[in-house]
Amino acid sequence: MAEQKLKVAIIGAGNIAQNAHLPTYKDIPDVEIVAIADWNLERAQEAAKKFGIPNAFASCEEAFALPGLDIADICVWNKSHAPVAIAAAKRGLHILCEKPMAWDMNDAYAMEAAIKESGKVFVLGVMNRYRKDVQLLKEMANAGKFGDIYYGKAIYLRRRGTPLGWFTDTQKSGGGPVIDIGVHCIDRTWYLMGCPRPVRVSASTSYRIGDYQTKGVSRWVALDSDVTAFDTEDSASGVIHFENGASMLFEVSWAINLPNEEVSFIAGTKAGAKLGSPMEDKPVAVYGEDCGFLTDNEPYIEKSPFFGFGGDNPFKTEILELVNCIRTGKKPISPLEDALGIERILMGIYESAKAGKEITL
Ligand SMILES: NC(=O)c1ccc[n+]([C@@H]2O[C@H](COP(=O)([O-])OP(=O)(O)OC[C@H]3O[C@@H](n4cnc5c(N)ncnc54)[C@H](O)[C@@H]3O)[C@@H](O)[C@H]2O)c1
Repeated sequence: MAEQKLKVAIIGAGNIAQNAHLPTYKDIPDVEIVAIADWNLERAQEAAKKFGIPNAFASCEEAFALPGLDIADICVWNKSHAPVAIAAAKRGLHILCEKPMAWDMNDAYAMEAAIKESGKVFVLGVMNRYRKDVQLLKEMANAGKFGDIYYGKAIYLRRRGTPLGWFTDTQKSGGGPVIDIGVHCIDRTWYLMGCPRPVRVSASTSYRIGDYQTKGVSRWVALDSDVTAFDTEDSASGVIHFENGASMLFEVSWAINLPNEEVSFIAGTKAGAKLGSPMEDKPVAVYGEDCGFLTDNEPYIEKSPFFGFGGDNPFKTEILELVNCIRTGKKPISPLEDALGIERILMGIYESAKAGKEITL
């Protein structure tokens, strides 16, 4: 007998829900969106109409009370991730939560406790892990092709690309480019390095550019786009040390007087690799040695039109992974323990920058 469709409630009817999650669910026959909730009820109702969702609510609690619900998909501001996830866990729901896990460490620990207590599946929406090119390098790393990976470099520099809205208000976001885009490039580099335990961080943050008025540049605009505060960092850089002796350099910015750059490197005892930016359509490069000669290889990845990402829509792969983990009990590619690990790194960066010295995690 065919299994019943999994029933999902989307919490947050904003930009990422409407442009990535909602259209992607519509493309997956195994799930059915039964509700959408947003503090802005009109926004939830409009999205429900546009995507053919039968219920729209002004709170996650109303959505979670629906009988037979399986999944909470969390697409709200960073500071709202924990209260919504905890409410979902208390209702015994599986969770897909947009990145980052939480706006601070206390909320992350509270989420962890509630989710562990529920025993349900938790997937962190770090969709970079679900890119085909990242999965290719991960398979090579697992097969030992790089040897011991002891060094990583994570760079995501936007010359001008500060998102507008709640993102710039620390009380809603938890921080600037470190927590918003640093989470993508640091997490995917850390994942390819095998997620070693972070032990020390030395970082600095800069607040020199702020609310610029540069013309001719585009930005991500949150649907909650009233800029209530602009107190986040513009850029950050530093080094993360791991228990196994490996280290990672990182550089991130929303605004810096340098060219745009998005790249991850990993270096191992046998070979290294470079992961390009999906936006720049740069192929993966593997740097090795053969018969005593240095080699540069470009493994083939089929291109897809979705944001120019290598291979399939990574949001679809992420949701299919959630469904598969619910159905089979498999451990997710981006599980709870890694969500907490990357949160510890991100918060360690802010702590070190604030203290003006290296800190121990
Ligand atoms: N994976 C990615 O590349 C990516 C890209 C952009 C945003 N995001 C993440 O998606 C999330 C949402 O970002 P966005 O750009 O869609 O913002 P947005 O402002 O467009 O949408 C957020 C919505 O959440 C609602 N909301 C906030 N707290 C709520 C709560 N407790 N209950 C109900 N509704 C609540 C707001 O009313 C708003 O409509 C953030 O966590 C962000 O980091 C991820």
